[in-house]
Formats: sequence, C-alpha cells, structure tokens
Amino acid sequence: MRKAVAIFLASAAALEMTAAVRTSAEIDSCVNSLLSQMTLEEKIGQLSQYSYYKADEGTLAQVRNGLVGSYLNIFNPEECNRLQREAVENSRMKIPLVFARDVIHGFRTIFPIPLGQAASWNEDIVRGGAAVAADEASSTGIRWTFSPMVDIARDARWGRCAEGFGEDPLLTSRLGAAMVEGYQGEDLTNPNTMAACVKHFAGYGAVEGGRDYNTTWLPEPLLRDIYFPSYKAGIDAGAATVMCSFNDINGVPPSGNEWLMNDILRKEWGYDGMVVSDWGSINELVPHGFAEDRKDAAVLASIAGVDMDMEGHCYDNHLLEAVKEGKVDEKRIDELAGNVLRLKYRLGLFDNPYVDMSRANRFYAPESLELARRAVEESAILLKNEGAVLPVDMSKVKKIAVVGPMADAQHDQNGTWVFDLEKSHSVTPLTSLKEVAGDKIIFSPGLAYSRDKKRAGFADALKAARKSDIVFYFAGEEAVLSGEAHCRTDLTLPGAQSELLAELKKAGKPIVMIVQAGRPLVLGKDAELADAVLYLFHGGTMTGPGVVNLLTGAVNPSGHLPMTFPVTSGQTPIYYNQKNTGRPAQSITWIDDIELEAGQTSTGCQSFYLDAGVAPAYPFGYGLSYTTFKISEPRLSATEMPVDGQITVSCDVTNTGDREGKDVIQLYIRDLVGSMTRPVRELKDYAKVSLAPGETKTLTFTLPASSLSFTGRDMKPIVEPGDFQLWISEDAQSGTPVSFKVVNK
Ligand code: NOJ
Repeated sequence: MRKAVAIFLASAAALEMTAAVRTSAEIDSCVNSLLSQMTLEEKIGQLSQYSYYKADEGTLAQVRNGLVGSYLNIFNPEECNRLQREAVENSRMKIPLVFARDVIHGFRTIFPIPLGQAASWNEDIVRGGAAVAADEASSTGIRWTFSPMVDIARDARWGRCAEGFGEDPLLTSRLGAAMVEGYQGEDLTNPNTMAACVKHFAGYGAVEGGRDYNTTWLPEPLLRDIYFPSYKAGIDAGAATVMCSFNDINGVPPSGNEWLMNDILRKEWGYDGMVVSDWGSINELVPHGFAEDRKDAAVLASIAGVDMDMEGHCYDNHLLEAVKEGKVDEKRIDELAGNVLRLKYRLGLFDNPYVDMSRANRFYAPESLELARRAVEESAILLKNEGAVLPVDMSKVKKIAVVGPMADAQHDQNGTWVFDLEKSHSVTPLTSLKEVAGDKIIFSPGLAYSRDKKRAGFADALKAARKSDIVFYFAGEEAVLSGEAHCRTDLTLPGAQSELLAELKKAGKPIVMIVQAGRPLVLGKDAELADAVLYLFHGGTMTGPGVVNLLTGAVNPSGHLPMTFPVTSGQTPIYYNQKNTGRPAQSITWIDDIELEAGQTSTGCQSFYLDAGVAPAYPFGYGLSYTTFKISEPRLSATEMPVDGQITVSCDVTNTGDREGKDVIQLYIRDLVGSMTRPVRELKDYAKVSLAPGETKTLTFTLPASSLSFTGRDMKPIVEPGDFQLWISEDAQSGTPVSFKVVNK
C-alpha cells in the first residue's frame, strides 16, 4: 500500500466501521427501491444543494420535508450531526444528507497550492496530501470535496491556474488521479475519506484572454487531445463526482451541454457517478443568453444531465412545474436523483451517517505537518543559482538580511482557496530562519505587502542588506491575487517589489530571491539582479521549514516547472506543446536592431515577437539542483514500432555532483508528419529519480504505440505510421533527439 495514504487509512481502521460494502448491483437495487417510494418533490429535493447558513427551524424543516440533498460550506461536526439526525430520523424517506466543501489543498494543514504540488512531479506527495485533507475535513463532517481541478492552463493570466496541475495533459492526468485516490482512499465508505470531484468540465482553463468565466472556443480534436484526458483519468481513478464549468464552450455552456454531459461523459466514458453544477451555473444559463429564464435553464440542465443544482435555485423552484408541463420526463428526474442516491450509498452514508465525535477535529497531526513540509521541499523550483550562492552554510555567515513582503506573511503564504485556514499555524520563512540562525537575522521587510508601493521602508532594508553577508529577498504575490476571479494582465511582481530589489542591489551583497506566487510570474530584470532564484507556488502551512531546508542545503531542490514561464506578459498564452507553424523562427530580429525605414520583409517573416522573441523565460519541465545530472543517449529496444505494438526506452542517469539529489527525467516525442499537424513535443512519460553523488541508475520507460495516438479528422483516435523523434531530457527544450518509426504490421 502507498505509504502516505497508509498512515491515514490505518487510523480509519481503528474506527468503528459500520458501513456495509455493497456491490454496484446491490447499490442500484437499493436506489431503485428508494426511488419507487419517493414523491417527485422528494426526488427534486435530492437534486438541490444549498449553502449552509444555520440550523434554524427553516433549515431543519427543509431537511425534515426531504427538500434538500446536500449542504455545502458546513464544517461543524455537531451541526452536521444535528442536520443529519433530522434527515435520517425525522424525514419520511430517511435519506442522509451529504456535506460538501472546497477542500482544495488541505483543510487545516495547508499543502502547497495544486500548481505547486504539480511542480513536485511526485504522485505520492499529491496522494498523501489529499489523504491528509480528507482525514482532517471528514473529522468535521465533510465527506465531499470539490477537488481536484484538472483543467489545463496554458495562460498564466488566468488566476485559476493556481488550482490545477499546469499545462500538460499527462502530468495533470497522473496527479489528478493521485489526488482522487488520496481523497477517496481504498474504500470510500471509510468515514475518513471524501468523495472527489473532477472539475470544471470542460475547457474552463482555455477562457479567452485568461479572463475568468469567459468564453472558450476549442475545436474537438484539441478538446480530446489536450483538455479531456485529465478528466478521463480522474474518472478512471474512481472520482465519484464531476462539476460543470462556468464558461461557454463552443457556444454551449456545460450546464446545458448534452454533448459533454451525456454523449462524452456518460456514453463514451461510461461514467456512472454524479454531476454537480458549479455555484449558480444553471441559472447563469440565462445571462449566457442560452436559456430564456430560470425554468428554461432547469429544463436544459436536467435534460443535459446535471444531477445537482448547487445554490442555483432552478431545480427547487422550477423543475416540478416543468415535469408537470411535460417539459422534462419524470424518468429523467429518476436518473438524476438515482445518481445522487448512488453517491450517498458509495460514501456509506446510509449505514454511517453521523460524524464520529471521538474523532472530531483531527487537525495538524505531526505526520501531516511532516508531509506538508516535504511537499514544500519537493515543489520548490530552483530557477537560477549563479556562483553556487545556494545553499548557504549558516555557520559561515555572520548576518543575513531578510527582506520582502512575503518573508513573514502568515496568511498569504497559503495561497488561494483556504476557507478553513487558521493562519496562526502557518510557519513563515522568517520564523524558521530565526530558529536556525537566531541573532544573525536582520529583518527589514521594506514593503508591507506585495502590492505595497510605498518606499518608506526602502532605506532601512538597504541598511540591513549593507550590514549583512547575504540578502534573502522574499517576493511574490499575496494569496488574493490568484484563484477564482483573480486574473491579471501584468504578470510582473506587483507593487514596488522590483524597485525594492534594485535598491537592495546597491549593497553589493549576494541576493537570493525567493518567490511565492499563485502563477508563473514574469521575472525579467528581477531574475537578472538576483544571484539565485528559488520559486515556490504558495506553499502553505509549512512554507518556512521547507524553504529553510532548501536554502541551507538540508534538502536539495527538485521541483520542475508545470507551466512555461513567459518572458513578457504579452507572450501568453505560451506552452511547450505548441505547433511548429509554417514559418518557425530560425533567427530573431529584435526591435532595437531594426534599421530605420527597414523594409517590411527585412525581419525575415518568421513566427516571433519583435520584443519577446519566441523562447520562454523558463521552459516547461525546467528546474535546477545543487548537484548536476547527466543523462545518457536513449536506447530504444527497436527503431521500428508496429502501430499496435510498443518499444522500451532506457537511459542511464548519473549524479555528477557531490550532493544527493533528485531529478525529473522527462520523455518527449514528436510525430514529424501527420494527417493533422502535430505539436513540436509531447510529454509521454516521466520519472522522478533520487541519486547519491556519483550514482548511476538505469531508467526504462515503456512506450506503447497507443500513447502516440491523436484525434484524427474524423474525431477518432489514430496512430499513424511514420517518423518520430524522441527525447529524454530535463525540460521541454533541452536534449538531443533520436529517431524511430511507427510501421504498419
Ligand atoms: C465556484 C467555483 O468555480 C468552484 O470551483 C467551487 O467548487 C464552487 N464555487 C463551490 O464553492
């Protein structure tokens, strides 16, 4: 059993387990028996989810009358039990409620934001973090989380890129599946698990201009090859629920999209779980201009296959009438309610509806904090380390200036979606540095928060830098600058942080810049001024201890980028698996090098920006270490692969430095010619490998031909014979390719 999950399952085993494990057929028969006894009103009640306010008589009556299926935003075990008692003892059908909450990267013990966890490229970290979150949240009664978000994000302007695993379908699929496994454990009836929810189906990450809730246009091959695989992977990992997205996709918002919810999800993928709308996304069919009014919206959503209306009040207010008017068949309502009831059986709620108070409020277990610290350590990316300024031997420095608005940001270091944060538990880098270096630390923040533009603290910060041997500059974004509805067009450091860095430079001391942000930022000149750059996506509770272990070399950085970092904000969207174009850039002509009155064609008519070229600041997959690695040329088991066969690819990875370290070894391919143009690189496999100094390990990847398939012009998957290139490299830009062919048998 996987270790991190095992710790938490072991504690569940000690609980009194009363939930029966039923087969799917047994669950179906229970569901059908219930449906046959329920009134139409009670069935519609199961389709309604409300945001919890308080257990007053109105709420209790709603529950007693069977008019609610689920509450979200309740997190108090006594109140959960109070409502549950009303449902299972005093309502006619005795159907339990399911309590839901956004537990996105931890409940009380906060892990790095999902984009940070993605930088670890480590499924065990993600799975373990989700198991901790489930253990803590379920101890308050929450048995359903709206996570993982598996939307693909190619645009750092979109604030919600923080919530997902980045730009790559394979990485997102693997980590999304691991998160589902972590939440749901090996048996979802265990009371310390939560039902997962893969969201937001679909294409939400491609909102135009990176502006939240915006329109999405995605041709079907792009949907199938890039945006769908991570949902499918989450569902294959057993995700009990799916959430519709807010955007409209190719003109049809998902909450009313039969093709997405029915044809793809149910029929093509065989999904038999539950679909929940996003908050009010059914009633938003009206402002989308897709439904005439809320009743029309209820009709469209129910026919499309949205089982539960989250706080939209369309189903509760209009569905009964719509059925009576013949606009929706009662059989459809049975299907939707059946999906909700099936979820409740899968969670074991019919047998075990109450929160076990002996296990209530199980927060901050030492093993959870340790895992959270490891998650920080594995997800930090070393972007630059000139003159090996890092790691710092604390015994050799006399004074360290700790500057910047993120050095001691107990709230902001946790990032977006931390409804249940208790910030007093956040250990900041300043606190941890003081623990290891005590009096050597001179703290002078310079700026009070990331958007602060006041220069009043600059002089003192510069004085601190002058008195010190080295400067640790903690820059970044406050938590509120990313996440839902927090998009930016300017991806540079907010406030006067760049100016403060330039000021610190006057001290002439080595500067280590530690960035904590919710997205890839444009670091430009800042990265030039700093001698070393350690990049973290908001790291959560244990940011301080993790960062200090990295700065001092107790732990070697091993994070690699899950998103491409642009050179300028205007370079977005930017992603590694782009197409070649008919005019790929061979050479760049920079704007300042163009002669006066130069001819229109003088810059070569190639695909690049005059002021940003074409290369990113840092490519997808990039990340340095305090040691160095050498990867041998890949060895293929054959240079020809039948269209239904496979080859194996091996390489030797050697730690050529003098420190233990971990590297993320990435396998990319390129299909050189296709009946549809193919990306310049596609990630097909990866492995995170740990090596002692001087050690060599041989890695072997299996590459099945099926993994080379793409969606053809007829919208069917196809593997085409022809020439391919293959790289094994440490990022999406480096390495030397070898060739192989796919052949007809
Ligand atoms: C809206 C967000 O889009 C979604 O991700 C979240 O789960 C729901 N609100 C519930 O809070």
